[in-house]
Amino acid sequence: MRRNAIFIVLFCSALFAAAQQPTLLVDIDHRPATSLDGEWHYIVDPYHAGWGSSTSNSDVPSPRGYARDGHYVTGGPLIEYDFAKSPTIHVPGDWNTQKENLLYYEGLLWYERDFEFHPRPRTHVFLHIGAANYAAHAFVDDVHVCDHEGGFTPFDCEITDAVKDGVNFVVIAVDNARALDHVPTIKSDWWNYGGLTRDVSIVEVPDAYIDDETLYLTKSGDIQGYAHITGGTTGSKVSMRIPDLQLNGSATTDSDGRASFSVHPNGLERWSPEHPRLYKVEFTAGEDHLTDDIGFRTIEVQGDEILLNGKSIFLRGVSVHAEAPFRSGRASSDEDVSTLLGWAKELHCNFVRLVHYPHDERMTRLADKLGILVWSEIPVYWSIDWTNQHTYDVAKQQLHEMIRRDRDKASVILWSLSNETPISDARTKFIGDLATEARHEDPTRLITSAMLTPMHDKTAVLNDPLGAYLDVLGYNEYIGWYMGKPEDAPSFKWEDPMHKPVIISEFGGSAKAGLHGPADQRFTEEYQAEIYKEQFAMFREMPFLRGIAPWVLMDFRSPVRLLAGIQDGYNRKGLVSDKGEKKKAFFILQDYYAGLAK
Ligand code: GCU
Repeated sequence: MRRNAIFIVLFCSALFAAAQQPTLLVDIDHRPATSLDGEWHYIVDPYHAGWGSSTSNSDVPSPRGYARDGHYVTGGPLIEYDFAKSPTIHVPGDWNTQKENLLYYEGLLWYERDFEFHPRPRTHVFLHIGAANYAAHAFVDDVHVCDHEGGFTPFDCEITDAVKDGVNFVVIAVDNARALDHVPTIKSDWWNYGGLTRDVSIVEVPDAYIDDETLYLTKSGDIQGYAHITGGTTGSKVSMRIPDLQLNGSATTDSDGRASFSVHPNGLERWSPEHPRLYKVEFTAGEDHLTDDIGFRTIEVQGDEILLNGKSIFLRGVSVHAEAPFRSGRASSDEDVSTLLGWAKELHCNFVRLVHYPHDERMTRLADKLGILVWSEIPVYWSIDWTNQHTYDVAKQQLHEMIRRDRDKASVILWSLSNETPISDARTKFIGDLATEARHEDPTRLITSAMLTPMHDKTAVLNDPLGAYLDVLGYNEYIGWYMGKPEDAPSFKWEDPMHKPVIISEFGGSAKAGLHGPADQRFTEEYQAEIYKEQFAMFREMPFLRGIAPWVLMDFRSPVRLLAGIQDGYNRKGLVSDKGEKKKAFFILQDYYAGLAK
C-alpha cells in the first residue's frame, strides 16, 4: 500500500510540477483581450489544504486539490470545498482591504472564476496576469499552466492546450507569505497586500506573434530598435510604421526571431516633460499587428550632470508608493494613478520615484502622457539573502520583467536596483551583477540605486562602493527626523568623490494631518514643514545634486508604524494624508519647485 501511495505522489508531482515557465508579452494594453476582471470566488487556505494532499507538507497539486474546481452535491462524492458556494472578491485588488478579516492575512488564498472563450484556429492563447503578490500558481480547466514568483511584475501563461471552446474555469493560488529568500524579504515598511492586484485577461495571438519590441532615439538622432517574433521562421518580414513621421521601416527576423530597425526621422518632436509628445507606432509581422505609443528622447550622464535631450536637467521629484488614495489598498485603477500623478503635477514635479517595486503599467503610461520622468525600482529592499542563488534569480527575473514591460516608456529614465541595503561584499556583488544584467537588457537608460548616506561628524561622503556600478547615485537621508534637528541640515557638508550625478532619493519627516503646534514638536505639520525648509537650504550647497524625491507623496499603510492616535498603521511622512488632506509641507515644496521650474 505505502509504496503505491509514494508512486502516485511522485507520478502526480512529475505530472503537475511540469508547469511551463510563464512568458511576458509586451503592450498587452494595446492588444484586444478578454478581461477577467471582476468578482472571483475565493477560499482562504492557511493550511494549504487546497493542494489536496493532507499528509505531505509539500505544495504539489493532486487530484483532490482545488485546481479541479469540484462541486459538492448532497449524496455525491466527498468534496470538501466548493468555489461556487464560496464568497467573492474583486480583481484587480488586494484581499487585505476588501475583507476586514483579511486585513492582516498573509498566506495562501485560492481564486476561481469561469469564463467563456472561443479560440480561433492557428492561434496561441495566454492567461495574462498584471501582478500577483507574491507567488502564484495558475490552472485552467485543471491543467497546471504556470507558476510565478514576485508580486509586482506581469506574466503570461500559455493556455493554448488547456483552454477549450466554450465555458472554462481558471483557478489561481496566490500566496503572500513572507520568507527570507524572497524579494522583498521578511521586513518592509509597507503593507504586504496580497492577491491578484492588477488586471487579469485572456489574450489570443496568431501562430507567429510579436512578444517584444523596443524603439529608442540614438544620440545621433536615429530611431533604432527591434521587434521580436515568436513562432516565426528566420527571414520573416516585419514592418514598422510611424504615420505622423511618414516613417516606414522593414526588416527580416534573424535566427533569434529579432527584426532590427534603424530609420532617420525628419521633423521629430522630442519627448520631454514640457512637451510629452507620443507617436503611434505600428508593427506588422505576418498576421500579427501590434501598436504602441512611444515618445522619443535621449537620456545620459555627463560628469555629474544628467542630460535629457542633450540638456542638463534637475529632477523635481517625489517618492510615491502604489497606495490607493482615499480608500487605501494597492493602487490599481486609472483613478488611483491619475490622483497620485495629479498631486505630483500640482507640486510642479517633473519626476517621480516609484517605490519600492514596479508600479501598475497605468502609472508609467500616464507619466508618458503627462510628461513626468520616472525612477522605477525592484524590491531589493533592506537585508536581502545576498548569497542565496534562488534569491538572486528571483531578483534578476523581476528586473527582466520590469525592463521588458516598460522599456517602451519615454518617461522611464532610471532603473533602480535596490533600496537602503547595508554595505557588504556579498550585497555589492549581488547588486553589481544586477547592474550588468540591466545594462545588457537596456543600454539606453540610466542605472541607479537608493543607498544609505554614510555620515561622519556632519559630513556625508558619498562613497558607497555600489556607486561604482551606477550611473546616478541615489542617497536617502533623514536629517531632522531620524538624525538631529531640522535646523541642523544646513550645517552638513556633502562630498561626491565619484563625481557622479546625485539624487537625494529620500528625506522628510512625519506629520499627522491637522496636528498643529510649535515647529520643534514632532508629528506636527509645522515640524515637517521645518524639515523641508532646512533641507532646501542644505541643497543649495550641493553643486552635484541633480534631483530630489522627498519621502513621500501620500501617507501609506505600514505594519511597522503603530503609534496610536498618530500613525495607527500608517507611515505619516506623506505631504498628503491618505484621505487627501494636503499638509503644510505640500505647499512649501510646491513653492520651492515653482521657483526651480522658472
Ligand atoms: C526608509 C525606507 C522607506 C521607509 C522610510 C521611512 O528610508 O526606504 O521605505 O518608509 O525610510 O522610514 O519612513
